[in-house]
Amino acid sequence: LRVLFVASECAPWVKTGGLADVVAALPPALAAEGLDVRVCLPFYRSIRREVGEAPACATVLGALVREALLPSGIRTYLIDAPWLFGRDGGPYQDGEGRDWPDNARRFGLFARIAATLASDETPLLWRPDVFHGHDWQAGLGPLWLKTALPGAAPSVMTIHNLAFQGLFAPEMVDALHLPPGVFAVEGAEFYGRLSFLKAGLHYADLLTTVSPTYAREIQEEAQGCGLHGLLTRRRDQLVGIVNGIDDRIWNPASDRLIRARYDRDNLAAKGVDKEAVQRRFDLTVDPARPLFGLVGRLTWQKGIDLVAEVGDRLAGVGGQLVVLGTGERGLEDALRTLAARHRGAVAVRIGFDERLAHEIEAGADAFLMPSRFEPCGLNQMYSQRYGTPPVARATGGLADTIRGVDPGGCEGSGFLFGEPTGGALWEAIERALASYRNPSCWARIMREGMDRDFSWAASARRYHALYDTLVAGP
Ligand code: ADP
Ligand code: GLC
Repeated sequence: LRVLFVASECAPWVKTGGLADVVAALPPALAAEGLDVRVCLPFYRSIRREVGEAPACATVLGALVREALLPSGIRTYLIDAPWLFGRDGGPYQDGEGRDWPDNARRFGLFARIAATLASDETPLLWRPDVFHGHDWQAGLGPLWLKTALPGAAPSVMTIHNLAFQGLFAPEMVDALHLPPGVFAVEGAEFYGRLSFLKAGLHYADLLTTVSPTYAREIQEEAQGCGLHGLLTRRRDQLVGIVNGIDDRIWNPASDRLIRARYDRDNLAAKGVDKEAVQRRFDLTVDPARPLFGLVGRLTWQKGIDLVAEVGDRLAGVGGQLVVLGTGERGLEDALRTLAARHRGAVAVRIGFDERLAHEIEAGADAFLMPSRFEPCGLNQMYSQRYGTPPVARATGGLADTIRGVDPGGCEGSGFLFGEPTGGALWEAIERALASYRNPSCWARIMREGMDRDFSWAASARRYHALYDTLVAGP
């Protein structure tokens, strides 16, 4: 079975969030199931720097299709359209954080070329049996496959985040030469605009998202981002499959990015990592002070305002907090002021840094993830793996991957709360602090998280079964 993954990010070449980790880790897990999976990516300048002039194997719609291998050995098709992707900056935004003004053309052409590779019109010898698109950047792929391309492969669309929809002016319908008729409520139109994500969700044969709870939540108005009607109608074709984590990269027993390696039977070495974090971030070096970590996009989604709200109280009871991330200016500033008020107890690093992310996962005692919504979330799995119990809101994948510790109990792998308020977060932090003061209880909670199976294998089997339903003959 041949599957073409179509996505805008893939670690380690280009990453702004969890999508990149999933697109890097799921194909090798599917390959272990015997599938032939290849990944189609835009040939950003940053990828060119990594792989150089990869050999070109074809031309499609004016772009070169180049080939290169990921470190995992997975083969990629890199869409080389220098007028769209040959620039410095991020995959979606320039260096100043402004969306590229031609994003509709960039990902419009990308998805159309990827769809072409999954049809009779492909110039390649390798033809996928399934087109698997990820998020809005791939959304026009299923549209092209369903409405225009001969011999098109069936398609799967995975929602990693329903809040990012790729909404563009209606003029783009003509500019992208979309087939007549697709700009309709039963199509790619969303309140007068062209929605790349809705196109994918309307035209794909099967829909998935990255946790069972999120699959339910997005069928409700509150989390449905205006697409809950469509998703409810298609609920029989919508499944939630939880992400896994890449054991070769996120494993405290073999992680070369952290100071000291450890496992469930040697937790003492984790103290070395804690001290390293306290030193690196100029926090008071003290093994007894509970250290909370946070790594992620500093956005409303992630509930960063709630963290800013409880920061004073946490410092007031002797806790420490270290934050690594980038995001909304106002939230970055709120955290910076918090750190300035509590030198030695709160530290904030604005930036994207893979090594520091590993150091914090290993060195913190507990991990904060008070997300308002979280399709899956990877950091709470990494933190459980690293014996750093998460304090998280019971939503989406957080609810599906953390077993909440009951008040006063020692069973579970993290601390869950319900309301998206500073008060509710604080109450969960207090529960975590109470358990932390009881070392044998805390060690049990750490070990339960470390023992959990977050491997990709089980999820890969579920994707495989889905693909099978698409290609099974009549
Ligand atoms: P999302 O995809 O919504 O951002 P996830 O929890 O699924 O959230 O994945 C986030 C990924 O990005 C994790 O691998 C996390 O470690 C990484 N990450 C986020 N922000 C940073 C940062 N500032 N530095 C390093 N890694 C980061
Ligand atoms: C998105 C979601 C996150 C999920 C990731 C990978 O960025 O916000 O919850 O883990 O995609 O699926």
